[in-house]
Amino acid sequence: MEIQEKVKNLIDLRAQAKLGGGQKRIDSHHSKGKFTARERIDMLLDEGSFEEIDMFVTHRCNNFGLEKEKFLGDGVVTGHGTIDGRIVFVYAQDFTVFGGSLSETMALKICKIMDMAMKVGAPIIGINDSGGARIQEGVTSLAGYAEIFQRNILASGVVPQISAIFGPCAGGAVYSPALTDFILMTEQTSYMFVTGPKVVKSVTGEDISTENLGGAGMHSSKSGVSHFKVSSEEEGCNAIRKLLSFLPQNNLEEAPLFDSNDPINRMEDSLNEIIPDNPNQPYDMLQVVKAIVDNRDFFEVHKNYARNIIVGFARLNGSSIGIVANQPNFLAGVLDCDASRKAARFVRFCDAFNIPILTLVDVPGFLPGSNQEYMGIITHGAKLMFAYGEATVPKVTVTLRKSYGGAHDVMSCKQLRGDFNYAWPTAEIAVMGAAGAIEVLEGRNIAAISNEEEKAAYINEKTSEYKEKFANPYQAASFGYIDDVIEPRNTRFRVIRAFESLQTKKLTNPLKKHSNIPL
Ligand code: HXC
Repeated sequence: MEIQEKVKNLIDLRAQAKLGGGQKRIDSHHSKGKFTARERIDMLLDEGSFEEIDMFVTHRCNNFGLEKEKFLGDGVVTGHGTIDGRIVFVYAQDFTVFGGSLSETMALKICKIMDMAMKVGAPIIGINDSGGARIQEGVTSLAGYAEIFQRNILASGVVPQISAIFGPCAGGAVYSPALTDFILMTEQTSYMFVTGPKVVKSVTGEDISTENLGGAGMHSSKSGVSHFKVSSEEEGCNAIRKLLSFLPQNNLEEAPLFDSNDPINRMEDSLNEIIPDNPNQPYDMLQVVKAIVDNRDFFEVHKNYARNIIVGFARLNGSSIGIVANQPNFLAGVLDCDASRKAARFVRFCDAFNIPILTLVDVPGFLPGSNQEYMGIITHGAKLMFAYGEATVPKVTVTLRKSYGGAHDVMSCKQLRGDFNYAWPTAEIAVMGAAGAIEVLEGRNIAAISNEEEKAAYINEKTSEYKEKFANPYQAASFGYIDDVIEPRNTRFRVIRAFESLQTKKLTNPLKKHSNIPL
């Protein structure tokens, strides 16, 4: 072959590879409102930055006549590119080739990308759209999955791993995304479940739709499997780009520093008035978060799941921080099983990737009751405690209002190695709320009073006494458990100053193989 012919041949082969499973299947895919693997990668990465590899890989299976059906690239597009100029490694399953089902060679392609990302220290983004294990390949496909899982596990805490689910993701295939740091799902076009509606019906008799069993709505609100729900693939790609802007490339680096035009001493007068006079009245913690961070820009994670706690990323004077905040607007901001798990995982992510944590506290306690006890609130609450206590990144805590009992300790208190623990003058740091405390302490005396008016007056008097003594931050401050009581409108400034003083913080945990967090 002449050189020109060879080059032409290459160009033809490339064009063929880019068609994946062929134009007909691409058209069918588009007709479902979905983009192809390459279109998705183009949407995700900086324009023109994608470098594809392994375009000529084909499967090696000779079962069921598969030897006659080979597609260049074999069901997954892999390579690297940049997001905001920073390298990422990416794979996107190609539904037009055997429904994106995973073959032995597809797994090898994905593993190659993951290994490179680990060598380089760059994030891994996987776009999932697959019918699961390639049925014709049998056990080699299962082995391929396990190779990927093993890499997900080893990469955990070393490079950020993000999974976008833009189509089916079922059976054991769900476990690769589940092992990664963040899952994002598109509404209506994606689903994740261990077994689909048909199997569910035959095994348990339950009649349930795909959407209700494993859609984005369900996973982002009920199970918490998905961290983000998006209405389109474009929105999903933009969300991933934004998420990465808060993260370092790997566990040995810091998150990128941005120029901030938001003055650090910006006063937020509204914060001086945000706490209602009535302690049982809620307010929106999101308003507090936005008032404190740069340009009111808060990137919320797990927005629709366990809404009694808020977690997400923001910047303070250009530096990334993770925020954990009780939300009095939902279930009074109580800590329950889901909120504890949600926040614990977020705290651990931040700690693994050197992202300082700001904790805003207004928590009436743990949610009481048999339901929560049966679900293991003890273990789940311990997760959050463990995560905070283990974290060595800079930790600044501000108590806005309630901080009662065990929940006070859990929410990044001083003794869990909180670096700076501030409180607003409206803070109430105590073993429990006044009403509960008086019932315990004065129950016998109260019962002995027969006159109802006298009883009410006695309760009132004792409650006031308790509030006077404990419903404030000063007792905790007198012991040094609170480092300072700050004016609410000045929170941004004080918190930025605190984090800036902690930039060179060094703290290590005792040498061990790994901890045994109460899972
Ligand atoms: C081989 C597959 C396939 C698979 C789909 N295809 N899934 N080929 N192995 N697992 C092929 C189809 O034959 C078809 O080929 C093309 O992909 C598109 O599939 P359709 O069914 O036409 O598409 P659609 O109607 O959109 O349905 C998508 C689907 C369905 C819901 C994903 O294909 C499906 O149910 N697939 C099987 C899912 C499954 O049971 N997988 C195994 C799970 S067990 P043509 O040539 O017609 O285009 C598992 C274990 C993993 O994954 C364990 C890891 C530890």
